[in-house]
Amino acid sequence: MLFRLPMLLLKLLGVTFFIWITLTTIIPQTLLKYTNCQIQQNKFEKSNYPYNSITSPTPLPLLNSSVYFIIGHPDDEVMFFSPSLIEITKKKHNNDVKLICFSKGDAVDESFGKIRAEELKQSARIIGIESENVIILDNFKDGMNEHWSIEDINQSLINKIGTSPPNKKDVIFITFDDQGVSNHPNHISLYYGTKHFFTKYYQKKYPSKLYVLKSLNFLEKYSFTLLTNVELFIDQLFKFIINNVLKLKINIDISFFSNNNHSSSSSIKVYSDLNMLSVSYAAMAYGHFSQMVWFRYGWLIFSRYLTFNHLIEYN
Ligand SMILES: *[C@@H]1O[C@H](CO)[C@@H](O)[C@H](O)[C@H]1NC(C)=O
Ligand SMILES: *[C@@H]1O[C@H](CO)[C@@H](O)[C@H](O)[C@H]1NC(C)=O
Repeated sequence: MLFRLPMLLLKLLGVTFFIWITLTTIIPQTLLKYTNCQIQQNKFEKSNYPYNSITSPTPLPLLNSSVYFIIGHPDDEVMFFSPSLIEITKKKHNNDVKLICFSKGDAVDESFGKIRAEELKQSARIIGIESENVIILDNFKDGMNEHWSIEDINQSLINKIGTSPPNKKDVIFITFDDQGVSNHPNHISLYYGTKHFFTKYYQKKYPSKLYVLKSLNFLEKYSFTLLTNVELFIDQLFKFIINNVLKLKINIDISFFSNNNHSSSSSIKVYSDLNMLSVSYAAMAYGHFSQMVWFRYGWLIFSRYLTFNHLIEYN
């Protein structure tokens, strides 16, 4: 009797995870193998293997750009941004991705700073970002009671990226929203500071956009892959009905994954598959080894941020 409930939950978890693997990985990769003529003929046009992505809108509208992820602490890039970070870094999108981390993660003790800064570079390498593209600032201290002012964030961003023209024509900034995922004051400060830098300075000089990561409420945050399963299932059902039941050859898309829905330019959803999730686990568990206290394992399993990111364009 005592073990009934935990066993039931474990079974539910297993079934949910298996459905997620089927929807994100088995079905898309099987379809790709049978529909992609490059894979079928074993002849490839480019130096990157055709790899499918699960994004809304499709294809991902962030390409040929300089992309800056602005984070507060080493490990934010995995714990909150890994689906979008890994997706945007994929070679086929031709982006230059840089990470700007405002603190060294020295909240507990100063000596942690060096270790965690190195860990951030290790994690970035696992994700596919060279160490030279990881910028770690040292004038902001990590902590729930540390105040990071808009003026200081503005000035730091100007110093680090504002004075020289970007490598690519379009520039994208990605950071937290006004709730900072978990109401962490450092994350919230980054939202206000980056927004100020973007609207008052950068946007006036170069073509650029700012996206913020939508904070999820408690239930959604710890919903594992349940919501993703529902979303992806409905999407694939729509596609199946259109292609096979209605036998429409035209490529119309009435699902929420629509190409041309009016809000597509202002909001981007990115889903991980099993391969991308494995990279996130490696970056966290191996890259950020010092952070792997027991409850983090649970967090890594249940958090929706590990497999889903919703980016909202600021305007
Ligand atoms: C992106 O860059 C590639 C290579 O430079 C180019 O062929 C392609 O047309 C560009 N795409 C867009 C949408 O600008
Ligand atoms: C941010 O920097 C810009 C450009 O130097 C400046 O005009 C603006 O006043 C700064 N904002 C704050 C709050 O310091």
